[in-house]
Amino acid sequence: MSDGLDTTEKRGQWSGRWGFILASSGCAIGLGNIWKFPYITGENGGGLFVLIYLACIALIGLPIMLAEVLLGRATQKSPVGAYRDFSAKGSPWVIPGWIGVLAGFVILSYYSVVAGWALHYTWLSLQGGFAGMDAETIGNTFGSVFADGNLNLGWHTAFMMLTIAIVLGGVRDGVERIARILMPLLFVMLLVLLGLAMQSDGFAEAFSFIFSPDASKLTRAGVLEALGHSFFTLSLGMGAMITYGSYLKKKEDIVSASVVISILDTVIALVACMVLFPIIFSYGMEPGAGPGLVFVSLPIAFSQMAGGAIWATVFFALLVFAALTSAISMLEVVVSTVIDETRLRRTAATLLCGTAIFLFGIPSALSGTDGFAGKEFEDLTAGIFGEGKGKNWFDTFDYLASNWLLPLGGLMIALFVAWRAGAAAREKGFNEGTRFQNLYVAWLMLLRYLVPIGVVAVLLHALEVI
Ligand code: PHE
Repeated sequence: MSDGLDTTEKRGQWSGRWGFILASSGCAIGLGNIWKFPYITGENGGGLFVLIYLACIALIGLPIMLAEVLLGRATQKSPVGAYRDFSAKGSPWVIPGWIGVLAGFVILSYYSVVAGWALHYTWLSLQGGFAGMDAETIGNTFGSVFADGNLNLGWHTAFMMLTIAIVLGGVRDGVERIARILMPLLFVMLLVLLGLAMQSDGFAEAFSFIFSPDASKLTRAGVLEALGHSFFTLSLGMGAMITYGSYLKKKEDIVSASVVISILDTVIALVACMVLFPIIFSYGMEPGAGPGLVFVSLPIAFSQMAGGAIWATVFFALLVFAALTSAISMLEVVVSTVIDETRLRRTAATLLCGTAIFLFGIPSALSGTDGFAGKEFEDLTAGIFGEGKGKNWFDTFDYLASNWLLPLGGLMIALFVAWRAGAAAREKGFNEGTRFQNLYVAWLMLLRYLVPIGVVAVLLHALEVI
């Protein structure tokens, strides 16, 4: 929306419903789906964990996604402005908006480092992959990649430059255009890999691992992990969906769009499992290998497979694409807020925010350089991915952002839209453009009661109260 002053640019807008759906799917589908979901499913024994995760997506994630998109579309503003417009001037409700922007800033700074590993592994695969390497060498490869500061810095720089270049292009010519290319490509590549996995001996075993509930393996912590991951994977709690919703025209149907995005995100996560686990099982490896599932177990499988270098290239390129469309959304939240709040133009705002995030990510890129080199892989990953809190910049940020900022942000959005926003504006925001007006009351009930209770459970879990 332009305010008519020629010192400001016209606010970006999606070309239509599918532009929004593809861009938002790109935002949601990321490392969370292809890297994280399979390994936490493996660690939690499959079946029942998956079932609970699905329930969390449908009953908690989806209502929050709708609340975010509604808030964005109704106000045509990024998170801070959206909260402000829906409350009163000077209201403290802008604070959760700012927390969201901060979360986007922090998450992107280290997400880019993990994406850098995916870039590096694509590069290694292109050069012939892991053919002829034994399992130990492949395990050590990841350890030495993490410990190589210059290497990490190089790929972090490359990935951030790519992200910045796309966001510079704007909403339709940058973000939407790249999602229109990369998302269909990602779907096709994943289907090709699924075809490969279906031919392997381990497919039946993998299928029953993923889909048959086994209560004995699921812990209380696993239930809460399923809930927490439903936030991360749907990109909720930091205003990414508010921002993407703000580029929607008023006539679009946000109810069906949110359902489609959630289903796509879920299907991709499940397909990623069905690609990974059959390969893992066929080569006699453990599903509970943890964060190394993608960067270690999978290359070991590829090293033993005919045409392994090609499949490895397809897989890691896919991982890069998934990470890129998510990274774009995080930068877009920050940039969009700066544009809305300061009236800087997109070019200046993008270069400024992108550079700041890049600089902030440097300590994460260098996380493996001291004290980590030479340790066993399990120690390394435990140190990086969360069991240990505050050991280095990388895991401190991940811990703070994933465990605190996102659930807190999601809780705030739910409470704000369900209890604080004006009833008339909320109902209008939901109903505009949709045929599913009869779902309004059910959605509001979920958002008012079930969602806050569920999210508070995650927070109490993080505090080790329950
Ligand atoms: N949903 C993304 C993933 O699954 C991560 C993400 C979180 C993106 C928050 C944007 C905002 O990888």
